[in-house]
Amino acid sequence: MELEELAKESNENVDQLRRVIEWLKAKKYVDVEVKTRTIITLGKEGRAIAADGLPEARLARLLSAKASPPSLAQLNAELKMEPATFNAALGRARGQGWIKVDRREDGLEATSVMSPPIQPSEALLAKLSRGPTDKGTLSPDELNLLAALSRRPDYFSEKEEKSTEVMLLEVPQGVNLDTSEEVVLTAGLLEKAASGSVRLSKLDVSSPSPVLLMGKEHPMATFLRLVRETLLAMGFEEVDGPLVQSSFWTFDALFTPQDHPAREMQDTFYLQDVKSAIGNTPLVRRVKRVHEDGWNLGSKGWKYRWSLLEAQKSVMRTHTTAITIRYLAENSREDAKVFSLGKVFRNESANSTHLMEFNQIEGIVVEKDASVRLLMGYLSAFLRGLGFEKLTFHPSFFPYTEPSLEPSVYSKKLGKWLELGGSGVFRPEVTLPAGVKSRVMAWGFGLERLAMLYFDATDMRDFYSNRLSWLREVPQCP
Ligand code: PHE
Repeated sequence: MELEELAKESNENVDQLRRVIEWLKAKKYVDVEVKTRTIITLGKEGRAIAADGLPEARLARLLSAKASPPSLAQLNAELKMEPATFNAALGRARGQGWIKVDRREDGLEATSVMSPPIQPSEALLAKLSRGPTDKGTLSPDELNLLAALSRRPDYFSEKEEKSTEVMLLEVPQGVNLDTSEEVVLTAGLLEKAASGSVRLSKLDVSSPSPVLLMGKEHPMATFLRLVRETLLAMGFEEVDGPLVQSSFWTFDALFTPQDHPAREMQDTFYLQDVKSAIGNTPLVRRVKRVHEDGWNLGSKGWKYRWSLLEAQKSVMRTHTTAITIRYLAENSREDAKVFSLGKVFRNESANSTHLMEFNQIEGIVVEKDASVRLLMGYLSAFLRGLGFEKLTFHPSFFPYTEPSLEPSVYSKKLGKWLELGGSGVFRPEVTLPAGVKSRVMAWGFGLERLAMLYFDATDMRDFYSNRLSWLREVPQCP
């Protein structure tokens, strides 16, 4: 007997009954079989055909009722078919030998040969129109007809449906259905069970249970929270800043020359006519000198004329390094562990591994004894804290760090290394004009890529497309 039927007859709810059945199954009184059925339901077109007949049959029947052959236009004025359907019907009716089509001077003329009887597929559609039908109950002939009809759009749809069949194995005659076992757990019961004064029934934790669609934290929000918690636990403090930044903080203060490709409009979103309030301050003058001739640092600089106007242009920040360098310049700390987490923007097209708006995690450690080895240690600790065990570093280049390293983590699922972003030790051309005497280790990673690895996602856009089916499936704690 089916579970739903059983529930109706016994006046119990299905979930309650499932538990009872599991219990009876454990006692070997019943057996349970889960069956999958394919249910066929007519679509809009299918219902119309079930009522009126196949287009080709309707056409032939109408024609046979006419005393003299009408023009094709007159014919369809009565049939009211879409032009494509009408033409297909004309072809099929002729193919079946129900009508003849001849070319006349003024166009095509259709004449009746016979009025077709009810067609087997019409009979099948009429049968299906009585309600959702189990595909398993159809005869082989009907299944063949159905396969032929499946090429016509919106005739019918198929859906898998699972049903639970419960079979009685043995009537528990005169048996004492052991009611001394408790089924609903309470804290008190657990204590009693521990002392041996009650017996608890066994639970089959693999038995099916209803799916509860509860509200939950968005996976990206979960991941950002984990990143924050990991860095806070490592003794970092969080700093924040605006999404719109001057070119000065985004590029110039980071020793990125004014003709660097990253500053071009193809890569960076500029805000038209929004001039930022970068003035002719001592800091700005030092940065200008560093760019032009290296100031007094023994550096050669970039050898060009630095422009304040260029530095005043406002951009959507392209990296969170703009936030950390600004923090350094405004706080000139001798030691600090600081991170910044937030959106950055890049003028590129979105695909499964790129977004034009994504989250970055940026960290800096200000420390006299900063070194590449120490930086790798911090990064390993941070990534291990998030559950990424296997990482490696490659040499890289950024205008603001020397040396520069590119960390990658290994994805078991993809079987390859994935680059995370950049890191390095800030150059003196960055720290000294900002008034920082200690060395500064810095890194910046895109977080959606890490989140993809974390949640086993294959498309970065899933995090932002609000596709409920994916959001429901993705585990909260993978
Ligand atoms: N800002 C770099 C990026 O967005 C990453 C980086 C940060 C590199 C800090 C070095 C130091 O790709």
